[in-house]
Amino acid sequence: MAGEAEKWVLMVTAQTPTNIAVIKYWGKRDENLILPVNDSISVTLDPEHLCTTTTVAASPSFDSDRMWLNGKEISLSGDRYQNCLREIRARAGDVEDEGKGVKIAKKDWEKLHLHIASYNNFPTAAGLASSAAGLACLVFALAKLMNVKDDQSKLSAIARQGSGSACRSLYGGFVKWVMGKDDDGKDSLAVQLADEKHWDDLVIIIAVVSSSQKETSSTTGMRETVETSLLLKHRAKEVVPKRTLQMEEAIKNRDFASFAQLTCADSNQFHAVCLDTSPPIFYMNDTSHSIKLWNLALMKQLFSRIISIVEKWNRSEETPQVAYTFDAGPNAVMFARNRKAATLLLQRLLFYFPPSSAADLDSYILGDKSILKDAGVQGINDVEGLPPPPEIKGNIPLKKCKGDVSYFICTRPGRGPVLLSDKSQVLLNPETGLPK
Ligand code: ADE
Repeated sequence: MAGEAEKWVLMVTAQTPTNIAVIKYWGKRDENLILPVNDSISVTLDPEHLCTTTTVAASPSFDSDRMWLNGKEISLSGDRYQNCLREIRARAGDVEDEGKGVKIAKKDWEKLHLHIASYNNFPTAAGLASSAAGLACLVFALAKLMNVKDDQSKLSAIARQGSGSACRSLYGGFVKWVMGKDDDGKDSLAVQLADEKHWDDLVIIIAVVSSSQKETSSTTGMRETVETSLLLKHRAKEVVPKRTLQMEEAIKNRDFASFAQLTCADSNQFHAVCLDTSPPIFYMNDTSHSIKLWNLALMKQLFSRIISIVEKWNRSEETPQVAYTFDAGPNAVMFARNRKAATLLLQRLLFYFPPSSAADLDSYILGDKSILKDAGVQGINDVEGLPPPPEIKGNIPLKKCKGDVSYFICTRPGRGPVLLSDKSQVLLNPETGLPK
């Protein structure tokens, strides 16, 4: 290894998006390799609003592999991290940095220790698949640092071994995780169905429930579902194979009516499968006791209200305007067919879920705030002046739920992983390799 005397530090920084499944992944056929019982399809979210940034560094001066997540040192000893590190090291290539006078031969990577610093630009409590973005970012950044020649799809099979849904974050736009058939998992990987520009009319609004809940792993819940749910067997064998093809067609043709119908149906079946588990899983956490009861009630109420608002509105229109999907966390994700529909959706959401009096609008609507302007809402007073949606005329309106939503994020389909060259985004000190 040339350049050892200088105690150089070589580093790479990358940014990776998170993703939301519209055909859900629930249930593993192999827990160690993280092989699913069915295909899944997701939309990648714009990293401008939700992303992970990770800096990875190698240096002969490092004594061990270390990682810092959101500024705190965490252990890398878990199987999921170890699987990713091992698989990437096994594929490392020769690296030369002329500027630093560093030459690393393929075989030297086994001896070099790594420092990793990662930062999620959204709260982990929001349950927005931070481990998906995180593990995808780790694998992507390490592959660049170590000059791994594998294409994105092969990298996705490595990220999958860190966190199943991470494999879908290796691509932007619309992504399918092909379940694969091989026992070794080589064919269980992500493929891009269409890039983020293909259907850029779509607007995504996420409602994050007030919650202090910690993100928990879904492994136990999935295992119990696989062991006990007959509905999961039916779903994996009969429902998802057909639904996946229909969803691919809907995405290809930008057919919002089909996309919405399939997205809502799949989210609802995912919940049904959780309830069909023994013991039943309420609202997607691995154990029902990991979520506070008041919080459970709040989520239940929010989800059923959102379903009711969306269903009533869609039925009053000629064609669906919005789709909903509820994932493994205290948040609801809605897809609006276009900006006009997003504006009308935001008006409805603000009407039913106004911010608590203390909140200011700027911290209540995150992401693309321009939709607020289109909705004619510039301040709290405008929220109070919003009229009830026309489709509830003559019916008893739903009660307003002030303060039940912590905040909304307005976003859109986004790009896949990228390398960052801006020094201000590097998370490790270039001299010491320690967090800045
Ligand atoms: N889990 C949650 N966020 C993560 C990140 N950014 N990197 C690795 N693991 C994570």
